[in-house]
Amino acid sequence: MARRRYAAPLAMDLFRPLEREGAALLSDQLEERVRQLLAGGRLKPGDYLPPLRFLARKLGVSVGTVAKAYATLGREGVAAGDSTRGLRVTSVTPLPPRSRRPWASTVMRPTLPVDPLGGELPRPASSSPIRFHTSEPGTDLLPTALVARAFGAALADGANLRYPPIGGLPETRAAVDSYLGRRGIALAGAEVLLTAGTTQSLAIITRALLPPGGVVLTEHPTWYMALAVFAAAGARVVALPVDDEGLEVGALAEAVLRCNPAFLYLQPAFQNPTGVSLSPERRADLLAVARRLQLLVIEDDYAAELAFRESPRPLRTAECAEVVIYVKSFAKVLAPSLRIGAIVAPARYAAALKSALHGLDPYVSTVAQRALAACLSAPAFSAHLKALTAALARRARALDEALQAHMPPGARWTRPAGGLCAWVELPPRVRSDEFAREAARRGVLLAPGRLFCLDDSGERGLRIAFAVAKPPEIERGVGVLGDLLRARVRRGRRPAAVPRSVAP
Ligand SMILES: Cc1ncc(COP(=O)(O)O)c(C=O)c1O
Repeated sequence: MARRRYAAPLAMDLFRPLEREGAALLSDQLEERVRQLLAGGRLKPGDYLPPLRFLARKLGVSVGTVAKAYATLGREGVAAGDSTRGLRVTSVTPLPPRSRRPWASTVMRPTLPVDPLGGELPRPASSSPIRFHTSEPGTDLLPTALVARAFGAALADGANLRYPPIGGLPETRAAVDSYLGRRGIALAGAEVLLTAGTTQSLAIITRALLPPGGVVLTEHPTWYMALAVFAAAGARVVALPVDDEGLEVGALAEAVLRCNPAFLYLQPAFQNPTGVSLSPERRADLLAVARRLQLLVIEDDYAAELAFRESPRPLRTAECAEVVIYVKSFAKVLAPSLRIGAIVAPARYAAALKSALHGLDPYVSTVAQRALAACLSAPAFSAHLKALTAALARRARALDEALQAHMPPGARWTRPAGGLCAWVELPPRVRSDEFAREAARRGVLLAPGRLFCLDDSGERGLRIAFAVAKPPEIERGVGVLGDLLRARVRRGRRPAAVPRSVAP
């Protein structure tokens, strides 16, 4: 490779001796120096950092020291390439050094699950396992007759076998508008796009709005499918903690100022995987930050209707409509296999979203759209929602009671006021992925916390979805978990590592 020249001021800064008496590691100092040069504009996207050995010689440090700093810069998307030949600075805003972001639990590029549909789940010993691992209503709670009638009518008309118009059939758009409008979602002047569900909606939004190497802010833990979408787009994810009141908004403004995110993704109602909702105080604070700093918020509303008492207020109301893109799925309130969702966005994003949609399959099944329109306007749909919510409330209560009865000391769990899942923190020293494998062998399927986290902070967490199993099964399943945990706590041992398992 031809020798690169470094302008004198840059060379002076880059090759300046490192502080050998200080407390900071030499590799951390070097990493910090590169970030400062980027922040000050001395290093620009497209510039090269010197080859490993060359820089090590200039600085009088080991090759390992430079390699470590380069590895961190590479992992966090500040620079890319072959470090032995020199890294290329990427066209991204540098993230602040780790020491200056105590508010973020982690910053990294998430990895894609190998098989998001559960191919790696441990094989249950039983042929009819207790299914705590999938967050979808059990088949007994799905509106089968309503959906069958709607599909039957749609399939009876050959015209519905044709391509639909891009962006949705007028009839279905009207039905979705009317449904969302009744729920208080601000629609005036908005662009509404029908999509094949929220996974696709997030892919569209990410493709449209995330610059190369850009940052996405998320809750931590969060829905692993969203992380998969961000990973596929090469995003750097800065994850902010969630507690009993939802996203910890106190850290948000600093995160926005330091990381310049393309958007914040969150689920304000019955967050998957914890089941918690954003409190009204946090909601107000979050929207104030978003408006002040022009932070775009992606509101994933997959289950707000499934409130046991009152639905949390949506973020996209009239006064905040300019900073919120609202994303709706009908998977949980109607049927996961319907594959229809919607994006409601400020009009200024219309062109970008539509062009991203074109590259990601712009068609949503005409038959399914007709069926959705019919379902949303049928009186049986509101009856279904009522019955579904009541059944979920009973199952959530059964789960809480069973956990109280069977969990050993040291375990903690959330008590969702709606939705489909709760989060259990296991007693210290019990790792949830190992535990999930052991539980599967005893016929209880779980989603281990690591799926929803970017680092090992989910190690003790478990998502228990309470929407599939009926109350007696819930009691039985949690009983098994309690037995296993007590035995484990008694043994105080940690079995060997197991492969990652994935659940929808
Ligand atoms: C947080 C969240 N959003 C949305 C969805 C629904 O996604 P889709 O419409 O792609 O099925 C789910 C399903 O699990 C979810 O957990």
